[in-house]
Amino acid sequence: MENLKGLILSGGRGTRLRPITHTSAKQLVPVANKPVLFYGIEAMAAAGIKEVGIIIAPETGDEIREAAGDGSRFGVSITYIVQDEPAGLAHAVLTAEEFLGDSGFVMYLGDNLLQGGIEDLVANFRSGGREALILLTPVPDPENYGVAELGPDGGVVRLVEKPSNPATDLALVGVYMFTSAILAAAKAIDPSPRGELEITDAIQHLVDNGMRVESHIVEGWWKDTGRIDDMLEANRLVLGALIPRNDGEVIDSQIEGPVIIEAGARIERSIVRGPTIIGAGTKLTDSYIGPYSAIADNCEIERSEIEHSILLDGSIVQDLPGRMESSLLGRNVVIARDPRQPAAYRFMVGDNSTVGLP
Ligand code: G1P
Repeated sequence: MENLKGLILSGGRGTRLRPITHTSAKQLVPVANKPVLFYGIEAMAAAGIKEVGIIIAPETGDEIREAAGDGSRFGVSITYIVQDEPAGLAHAVLTAEEFLGDSGFVMYLGDNLLQGGIEDLVANFRSGGREALILLTPVPDPENYGVAELGPDGGVVRLVEKPSNPATDLALVGVYMFTSAILAAAKAIDPSPRGELEITDAIQHLVDNGMRVESHIVEGWWKDTGRIDDMLEANRLVLGALIPRNDGEVIDSQIEGPVIIEAGARIERSIVRGPTIIGAGTKLTDSYIGPYSAIADNCEIERSEIEHSILLDGSIVQDLPGRMESSLLGRNVVIARDPRQPAAYRFMVGDNSTVGLP
């Protein structure tokens, strides 16, 4: 299978990450200041895949095109494919039928992060002999995922999407390898109770028709970044391996542990404790930034303490009386004291936001 293609699913509505996803695609929410989607594209490139199709939704597709471009900076060529409605992962595969042709392909869910990369697995799949190779990992809450049952030889015997009584704790990780046989399977299945054409059912269809579906248990960590707690955990995991670098300006400040300071950032009379990343053009003054924080570009933080949080571009935090932690701020958010009388909380917060007071 020389010409293995890549298919990254970057559509969907991101309902579990609102309000951030009211204005932005969930796959572009940054982990350690890099959009989640880019980790998937980089994994494909590292595995020697040259042609990558990205499935996009009509609502957020333009933003994804703008972010990932033609793929040249990743060393791949990207084709964008619009999926008109989020009708399931197997529906997304069918939407890409023309792009895929009769090639085998690696499918990667654009909001998934896989630590170990996919190079060895892709090399293994290229050697042929099976219709599908799926990745599994034990999870504490299998009812929220596709769940696999394996036979004595490790072959896959049964897959069920989000079962209420899971037979095992082995969840399907959002990275799959297929031959073109999956296209016929996706055409043969019916929509699930949630109204979607499930990839899990399409793979089960392969099994039912005697095709070889193998599984591999992932060794490193894996994260589906669908919810805020997952985002924070993914951020923690990626920052945990951060290699420090300082391209910014540090004045009368203490930098402890692994910290990346991007060009144009300025840190003045502050303490930054890694692993933490401070984006380009961000200004920190008289503040403390604690471990596992990712502060994006052009933020301004003054007289405040922030720890274990993700701030998107252009956010401003000033004079916070207590420490902010485990928080996710969208773009251009302002959290500051307001000197006007009467002294009161004044919020302008988007739909589905959460504000936690001590
Ligand atoms: C999808 C798949 C599920 C898989 C999960 C991995 O779920 O349907 O089988 O375990 O991705 O992230 P969804 O994110 O659509 O709920």
